[in-house]
Amino acid sequence: MNERLTHLLRQAVSSLSEAGTKDEIHAIRVLYLGRKGLFASFLKDLSSLPADGKKAAGAAINSVKDRIEREIEGRLKSIEDALKSGRLAMERIDVTLPGRTQPLGRLHPVTQVMREVSAIFTGLGFETAEGPEVELDYYNFEALNISKDHPARDMQDTFYVSEEVILRTHTSPVQIRVMEKTPPPIRIIAPGTVYRRDSDITHTPMFHQVEGFMVDEKVSFADLKGVLTIFLKALFGGSIGVRFRPSFFPFTEPSAEVDIACVICAGLGCRVCKGSGWIEILGCGMIHPEVFKAVKYDPEKYSGFAFGLGIERVAMLKFGIDDIRLFFENDLRFLRQF
Ligand code: FA5
Repeated sequence: MNERLTHLLRQAVSSLSEAGTKDEIHAIRVLYLGRKGLFASFLKDLSSLPADGKKAAGAAINSVKDRIEREIEGRLKSIEDALKSGRLAMERIDVTLPGRTQPLGRLHPVTQVMREVSAIFTGLGFETAEGPEVELDYYNFEALNISKDHPARDMQDTFYVSEEVILRTHTSPVQIRVMEKTPPPIRIIAPGTVYRRDSDITHTPMFHQVEGFMVDEKVSFADLKGVLTIFLKALFGGSIGVRFRPSFFPFTEPSAEVDIACVICAGLGCRVCKGSGWIEILGCGMIHPEVFKAVKYDPEKYSGFAFGLGIERVAMLKFGIDDIRLFFENDLRFLRQF
């Protein structure tokens, strides 16, 4: 029996050393140690031995069985170890590789200028208000003294949502919304997005304005000129050329437009300033008595000024950009410069 046992052990060890997978080892375990495996026949033989031989034979069988068990465990462990080191080698992190940095976003040049403009007016004691971009005809036109058949409607080519609902063409409706709710004195700026059917190198269908207005007793055109001159010099530097030109808006009387010297061509004339050396950046004036009546302010007691500034125009001049459409093409090579 001992010889058969030794032979079986050798056979088991040899097949184990050739087994390369856990499944193969499992099959070997079943073949040798399973209920109907090769060892089972030894146990059967045991019953035919005399009583004194049984003990020694039993011990020999058990010791070979244990040995095969240990061989199996050892082999399983080495397969497990090999798999693990294979996995580790694959997952190895090369700590010498350069790190991947998080790309950093930045503010759009229009946002930068918006914030700069807001900061200057906040410093002058103005508070900020907002209004809806989808606006009622009443606030965008009617309450601003522009009736349905008023020719001034042609100045701002409008996107209509319905007869009474439009995309606001300017930030001036915020004047009405604020004045309806707040009694004077007020000093407000209202930055926001506006829409017009307009497109060329200085006009886009969507652009940004900052509205500003101040109402109190005895506010005069001199206050308007003073505030806007201080503002423009803070924004463009003390030496910038500024001029006020008489103009017309139905909601202000008198009205003016403000130009600054074209910084693209230093006043020599270029395609941005259309050869004039000046570029218009805002409209302004003294708030019309009809507007005060619409918001139930007493025009005999109060006076005020208002202005509307085109943010893209300011950004073009500040950054020397000669085509307004560049702001909205989302070309990262352009945007990364700011
Ligand atoms: C207005 O929108 C008036 N609401 C401004 C105003 C407010 C006047 C308060 C008096 C009192 P205007 O249409 O001129 O005015 O536009 C104001 C500024 O917006 C212009 O000076 C210009 O800088 C800018 N702007 C006008 N149209 C466009 C456009 N299509 N694209 C980019 N900027 C524009």
